[in-house]
Amino acid sequence: MCGIIGYTGTKNSVPFLLQGLRALEYRGYDSAGVAVQINGGINTVKAKGRIDNLEEKINSSEIKTDGTCGIGHTRWATHGAPSDINSHPHRAPSLALIHNGIIENYAEIEEMLSAEGYTFVSETDTEAAAKLIDYYFVRLGDPVKAIFEATDVIRGSYAFGVIFDSYPDTIYSIRKDSPLIVASTEEGGFIASDIPAILSHTSSYYQLEEGIVAIIGKNNVSFVDRKGNESSQTRLTIDWNVEQAQKGGFPHFMIKEIHEEPEAIRKTVSTRIGEDGLPDFGIRELDIVRLSKFKNIHIVACGTAMHAGLIGKNIIEKIARVPVNVDIASEFRYRDPILSKDDLVILLSQSGETADTLAALRHAKSKGVYTLSIVNVIGSSVAREADSVLYTWAGPEISVASTKAYSVQCALLYLFAVQLARACGKLSDAFAKELCRKLTEEVPEAISKTLELSKEIKNASRHYLASEHLFFIGRGIDSALCSEASLKLKEISYIHCEAYAAGELKHGTISLITDGIPVVALMTEEFLAEKVISGIREVKSRGANVLAITTKEIAEKYAIPADKIISVPEVDEFFAPFLLATVVQLFAYHIAAGRGCDVDKPRNLAKSVTVE
Ligand code: F6R
Repeated sequence: MCGIIGYTGTKNSVPFLLQGLRALEYRGYDSAGVAVQINGGINTVKAKGRIDNLEEKINSSEIKTDGTCGIGHTRWATHGAPSDINSHPHRAPSLALIHNGIIENYAEIEEMLSAEGYTFVSETDTEAAAKLIDYYFVRLGDPVKAIFEATDVIRGSYAFGVIFDSYPDTIYSIRKDSPLIVASTEEGGFIASDIPAILSHTSSYYQLEEGIVAIIGKNNVSFVDRKGNESSQTRLTIDWNVEQAQKGGFPHFMIKEIHEEPEAIRKTVSTRIGEDGLPDFGIRELDIVRLSKFKNIHIVACGTAMHAGLIGKNIIEKIARVPVNVDIASEFRYRDPILSKDDLVILLSQSGETADTLAALRHAKSKGVYTLSIVNVIGSSVAREADSVLYTWAGPEISVASTKAYSVQCALLYLFAVQLARACGKLSDAFAKELCRKLTEEVPEAISKTLELSKEIKNASRHYLASEHLFFIGRGIDSALCSEASLKLKEISYIHCEAYAAGELKHGTISLITDGIPVVALMTEEFLAEKVISGIREVKSRGANVLAITTKEIAEKYAIPADKIISVPEVDEFFAPFLLATVVQLFAYHIAAGRGCDVDKPRNLAKSVTVE
């Protein structure tokens, strides 16, 4: 969701800006633009649509070969349609500005500035911020002071990159609730909304703290707080390389990332198992004595991460018998959830920058509840603000549709469930050890074997290329899996899908089942197999075409009345959801690719949703 890049150095800035913007494409955007300092002024080029359109425009402009300091932006429209005018950077008389986030009080600011003689050309909230900083700059004559004055007035979320006509070779930046990183390299200084934009230039960066202005020069960066004091920021190291952030021979990031699941799970889990073979999170509150004090658990997240939470709920309640409430982060803070000091709130997020998840975290903290985040991006806001963090070691996830991040979130929740079950006296150490071993060794191996089904799944997917509707059904933990299967397929293939607990169909939805409607039944739990099979019979007798995805054991033992059965390799039934998750991800992938969809960058979607 919107991408920021800025470069100041000794070389032409345009290639750096374009390369950075391309690396941020996965975040989702519908227009792009750059602003470059040239001959004591600033030149701006903006274009609706792809970065190629922008590049074409740049090539016929005068900024093509000049200008060693510039900022660039990919915009995902929120206020005003995608258009050249609404694209960033936005100009004010003294500056150009790029922005990620939402200015909530932009209308008020515009009204105030209109009275001062300012005019507005775009429909965006961002233009108000650009002109407000200009307003203070004209009065105070100092970029840093102007930025602080303006951000005192602005309400909402922002990561700003600003260049001034009269301050050559310098980029100014500040953020609140939107991510922004800063780097100083031999090639020059950078700002970016996300690591991929700077990855080919450096392996270290600063995650800019809120309320600090970063001043990025050619050879150095400095940080200043509201009082004008120098602020020290922590330097972080990027632990993945350009190759990992590239497709590595796969046609799409999504399929590459699905293939990375075994390694991602192995890495995430094995680093949390102690020498005694039992979970060891290295967090005081998660040790066996303290963990038992939590009476209720709330898992809060959005989208796919929330679906991982549903899997976690099933597993935690099954083996630890502690009640778990799963909340959609955007609803959590507004429904005034009942929270007590004995509760634990777990925030799940791949990016660690999802605005709703961050707001939910802050809400929980404001109620004095202990918060644990499970996050993939090191140093991200959710990771930093939670009382403690468990990182998932999935590596960079570039495809907008989340796959390996989901699997590792589930894996950590399984491990957490084992630890909690021990803490509650529900699981012997011997059994816990066995589960940990299976999770670290057998699950990744079984997923690797599941990946070999990709061809069979691709063949099966051909049947669905022209489908308009599809239903996923399952019971127990599989009904949670159905929610994710359905989200995955609809977001990348644009096929309308519904996820239903199999027993719920006859309470209304079965009226939608007519001749040839595709239904996919997920079955991992043997004690529920007959129930799901009777659900299959119900839809079959109304003309549905049924694909069953199940375990080898169930497929061998039961006469499943489906048109096609895909069975996953052998694994302990408790862990079978991992294998089915891989199958439904591959299923969604092959259907979307077969339909010619832009798999990694589905329409209207952004990788990191940093606005409410
Ligand atoms: C779907 C998907 C989204 C994210 C959601 C939360 O494939 O990726 O539903 O899961 O936007 O994002 P994070 O995990 O970054 O908080």
